[in-house]
Amino acid sequence: MTETTAVVEMRNIKKHFAAVEALRGVDLELRHNEVLGLVGDNAAGKSTLMKVLSGAYIPDEGEILIEGEKVHMANPLDARRLGIEMVYQDLALANNLDVTGNVFLGREAVSIELGPLGVMDNHRMEQEAQRLLSRLKIAIPSVRLLVERLSGGQRQAVAIARATAFDSKVIIMDEPTAALSVAAISQVLDLVRELKAQGASIIIISHRLEDIYGVSDRLVVLRQGRKVHDCPVVGDLDEFRERVVAYMIGARDDFANAAVG
Ligand SMILES: Nc1ncnc2c1ncn2[C@@H]1O[C@H](COP(=O)(O)OP(=O)(O)OP(=O)(O)O)[C@@H](O)[C@H]1O
Ligand SMILES: [Mg+2]
Repeated sequence: MTETTAVVEMRNIKKHFAAVEALRGVDLELRHNEVLGLVGDNAAGKSTLMKVLSGAYIPDEGEILIEGEKVHMANPLDARRLGIEMVYQDLALANNLDVTGNVFLGREAVSIELGPLGVMDNHRMEQEAQRLLSRLKIAIPSVRLLVERLSGGQRQAVAIARATAFDSKVIIMDEPTAALSVAAISQVLDLVRELKAQGASIIIISHRLEDIYGVSDRLVVLRQGRKVHDCPVVGDLDEFRERVVAYMIGARDDFANAAVG
């Protein structure tokens, strides 16, 4: 592996649901320590593509390479073992559990392999949850608070902290700034920058183009299950927005000739 090897390379990924062709042969590359913005209109296939990368969906066709090695992921646990974590659009937090419980939610399965976590007592789990939150500079009054008591931004932060619990190298965030206040959005974007500063490679999905512009190094636009644009994030925000929208609505398409059935 070299620094120029992509941390993730997805090739010709196809996925259908009954008659719906959600992904029609998508190539996607994520480089080391890069923040990649993934955008597209509703139903473009963004979440589906990321669920394929996080092992939640098995593609009909195509291959995935992690640091240059071809991998097969049958479920999210396989992806986790490869260092890939996804923060879902709906967050999937357990309201009846406290912050610590949510940070450790779903860890039981891996704890058997990892050992120490399996026998971690409450006190150590609270300390570990606090350490993860502090490391990301997330301010939550107490890890003993039930997550249903938290604000939207705090809930998003807990979901992101959970995704970082195993020092994942790839973190996928599906619309982490949707339905948040302006202040909470800026905190989540700071969190993305902090994760990058700590060495993570990140894919962020958002309909808020200014958020993508603010944190991403590169941008990929999907439209109707195909990649239509892939470029570094440069220039000013107005130009960026205008260009991206042209690709989102189909007025421009860089890969039209490459499209195959
Ligand atoms: N589990 C599923 N079963 C059936 N159809 C699905 C399923 N998941 C996604 N689809 C369909 O696949 C297409 C792509 O959906 P996807 O959720 O990937 O879009 P998206 O780009 O994430 O959109 P949004 O911006 O609205 O979140 C849509 O037509 C959707 O209805
Ligand atoms: Mg989606």
